Amino acid sequence: MTEATTTARHSLWSEAIPHGRFPVLTGETTVDVAVVGAGITGVTTALLLKRAGLRVALVEADRVGSGVSGNNTAKVTALQSTVYSTIERKHSAEAAADYATGNAAAVERVAALVSELGIACDLRRMPAYTFAFNVKELPAVDKEATAAIRAGLPVSRDRGELMGVPFPVAGAVRLDDQLLIHPVKYVRGLAEVVDGDGSRIYEGSRVLGIEDGTPSRVHTDRGTVVAERVVIATHYPILDRGLYFARLEPSRSYCVAATLRSGTPPTGLAISAGSPSWSLARSGDLLVVAGRSHPTGSSPGDPYDELTAFAREHWDVAEVTHRWSAQDPKSYDNLPMIGPYTPGSTTLYVATGFMKWGLSNGTMAAELLTDLVVGRENPLKARFSPHRLSLGATPKLAKLNAKVAVDLVGDRLKSAEVESVAQVPVGEARVVRDGTGKAGVYRDEAGGVHGVSLRCTHLGCLVRFNSAEHSWDCPCHGSRFDVDGAVLEGPATKPLPRRDPA
Ligand SMILES: Cc1cc2nc3c(=O)[nH]c(=O)nc-3n(C[C@H](O)[C@H](O)[C@H](O)COP(=O)(O)OP(=O)(O)OC[C@H]3O[C@@H](n4cnc5c(N)ncnc54)[C@H](O)[C@@H]3O)c2cc1C
Ligand code: FES
Repeated sequence: MTEATTTARHSLWSEAIPHGRFPVLTGETTVDVAVVGAGITGVTTALLLKRAGLRVALVEADRVGSGVSGNNTAKVTALQSTVYSTIERKHSAEAAADYATGNAAAVERVAALVSELGIACDLRRMPAYTFAFNVKELPAVDKEATAAIRAGLPVSRDRGELMGVPFPVAGAVRLDDQLLIHPVKYVRGLAEVVDGDGSRIYEGSRVLGIEDGTPSRVHTDRGTVVAERVVIATHYPILDRGLYFARLEPSRSYCVAATLRSGTPPTGLAISAGSPSWSLARSGDLLVVAGRSHPTGSSPGDPYDELTAFAREHWDVAEVTHRWSAQDPKSYDNLPMIGPYTPGSTTLYVATGFMKWGLSNGTMAAELLTDLVVGRENPLKARFSPHRLSLGATPKLAKLNAKVAVDLVGDRLKSAEVESVAQVPVGEARVVRDGTGKAGVYRDEAGGVHGVSLRCTHLGCLVRFNSAEHSWDCPCHGSRFDVDGAVLEGPATKPLPRRDPA
């Protein structure tokens, strides 16, 4: 068998997600707060709200930890690539300091919860690194070190000695005592404490709509949660209000895990400062390599081949055991958005825009959202408010919206068009004329044909085929659908209609 057929097409960590642990929501249930989405953000928020004395219903479309929180590189760190120099440039040194304060506290909050609740999630303390692969990347590392120090982090400079990688490093900035965890075991460990004593978790329950009011009503196809407050923790917000769709850009990245014949995986949590960026970690004796980011809905090329080639170039790889991908929204101004869903909202809250650093940002968001819900002051409230004014980021905003306008029309799909279904190759997808419209047609390995409408059910942009994942991905706001149209990721909540073109 070839490597491609023996490699598991899911994350290392998602293997720890059991089926059927929590029930599907049916009928009507009344609580104080409904939390939608059971990733690290939703589960931590639910836990902190329960600890504050509130009854919580946590409603998850799939299973607890099955979203991005179960499909990442498992680093919980306040040193995050070149985040501090970027925030300083786009905002101010004060903004970078707030980000550092929130994320450093979140790292320690994760460690404290693991210890208090006795969660067996393989937690290890390790140094985190942002490193320069070559001298060209050194200025970025220098700037990051300076900005991180100004932001109050106790970072130091070295040449990656503790990183444990088998290639020379031109220079690095290091933050000690950060965490590597098993993110699914962690999130599910928290979930066990959320469920019970008047609070409930529901799995397999996709929220289709929310009637905002006092109380609000959160609807799935089989049940309703009635709650005074609602927190949307679906990583990309699912409701069409608050203009999040104009301010977030989903970015997808790819990961491989491999066994080594000789040598060892990294002993630090490492990410390179340049572009392309390589993120390196480990799980037990397995090497983890991640990267090849691109906006969702654009062509990924052969990301897994590139990651595997990188791993083989630097390590003595025996076998690639797992490959997976995931996406996370980037906010237009490089700060997370945490707070009221709309400017005046006192009942509906949101947390999003974690830019692939949500294990700490999602934990920080949980603290902030809990304070907002229970009416406690939090010094980070204004900084991360979704409704802050970031005037310097206006060009980015204009660029995002221009891109959406193009993707609604869909001229870029022309290159994938064929005349008839017969011309769709095995294992690939094409756009085929379907009466007066067009359909997306995928032909599976057994020759079966799967046709879907190309109009995303969220706000109507045209979806594109992702050849690495065999999914239809929407370039506007990142919704993803399988080859039969089922929703893989929101904000869409409804499937793509099936099409049967001749
Ligand atoms: C490749 C990659 C690597 C990464 N590595 C790291 C890392 O090393 N360290 C780090 O800090 N961050 C990392 N991140 C980012 C981090 O994993 C995310 O920011 C974080 O997990 C987001 O958590 P969340 O709870 O907000 O979202 P999720 O974990 O995605 O949870 C949202 C949940 O909402 C559910 N949902 C969606 N729609 C509905 C609906 N309509 N009804 C009900 N439920 C719904 C989903 O099923 C999902 O379970 C990485 C991201 C990527 C893409
Ligand atoms: S995700 Fe918004 S239009 Fe597709």
